[in-house]
Amino acid sequence: MKIVICGKGGSGKSTLTALLAAFLAEQNRGVLVVDADESNPGLYRLLGFESPPRTLMDLLGGKDSVREKLRRKIRNEGREEVNLFERERIFPGDIPGDFLRRWGSCLLVVVGKVARAREGCACPMGVVAREFLRRLETPPGEIVLVDTEAGVEHFGRGLETAVDGVLAVVEPSLESVVLAERIRDLAIGSGAHFLGVVLNRLTPEAEVILGEEVKRRGLPVLGRFGVRPEFTGASLRGERVPLSEEIRGELVHILQGIQGRILERAIRS
Ligand SMILES: Nc1ncnc2c1ncn2[C@@H]1O[C@H](COP(=O)(O)OP(=O)(O)OP(=O)(O)O)[C@@H](O)[C@H]1O
Ligand SMILES: [Mg+2]
Repeated sequence: MKIVICGKGGSGKSTLTALLAAFLAEQNRGVLVVDADESNPGLYRLLGFESPPRTLMDLLGGKDSVREKLRRKIRNEGREEVNLFERERIFPGDIPGDFLRRWGSCLLVVVGKVARAREGCACPMGVVAREFLRRLETPPGEIVLVDTEAGVEHFGRGLETAVDGVLAVVEPSLESVVLAERIRDLAIGSGAHFLGVVLNRLTPEAEVILGEEVKRRGLPVLGRFGVRPEFTGASLRGERVPLSEEIRGELVHILQGIQGRILERAIRS
């Protein structure tokens, strides 16, 4: 099951990704985290790793090489097969060790990061993320979590078409709800499955207002987190996000909601 986590900047996408990954790893469930955020470098820290793995962009020979292949593909207009990845199917075991981080049953893969000034747009990384996810084969029961850059740019690159579901994290701002609605519409528009929203950083007052806003827009709520100073603390210290019984309970609820929505769709189709 491949899930992409979207939402407004700073809404809590990486925190939720790290919480779900830590919880699944604790249960010994296979989880592969794909860091598809081209800007923020620090997801590996929230997962408890000391350094990031080498990137998929490096694995493919670097940004210039990927860009050249994409140009060839466009020039060819499909006459010659130009594949970014050699294999049609990629198993996590095929990924060389340098390009992975592993903690128990949790694996981390990083697509690529913008490193230099004037190095060009991040589109090649978006294509690599999409093609990697399309080809990625995981055993049944294993979960792939894709952490994305803020906003909806990745929708232009079709990332959502390579996964089983799209989830949006919403913080207490109207912008964030409106963006979640947009994410839902873009996902549905490209035939992807919109799973719902996770409301984050809630105060009691915000919970009421935000609850009404998402209800009015017909956005299914998968879970809720209040203001959690321990999340901010971990992020500030560059440490793994901590789990507590209360948080575990909410994560179970979110995972059940995701599974329920995916089953629902499978039954309908
Ligand atoms: N429920 C919460 N309570 C308190 N702080 C939180 C909560 N959720 C996230 N944070 C903090 O908010 C900040 C932004 O969170 P995070 O990095 O997960 O957001 P993001 O959506 O991934 O951001 P970006 O768009 O920059 O990738 C971090 O410092 C994080 O620790
Ligand atoms: Mg992030």
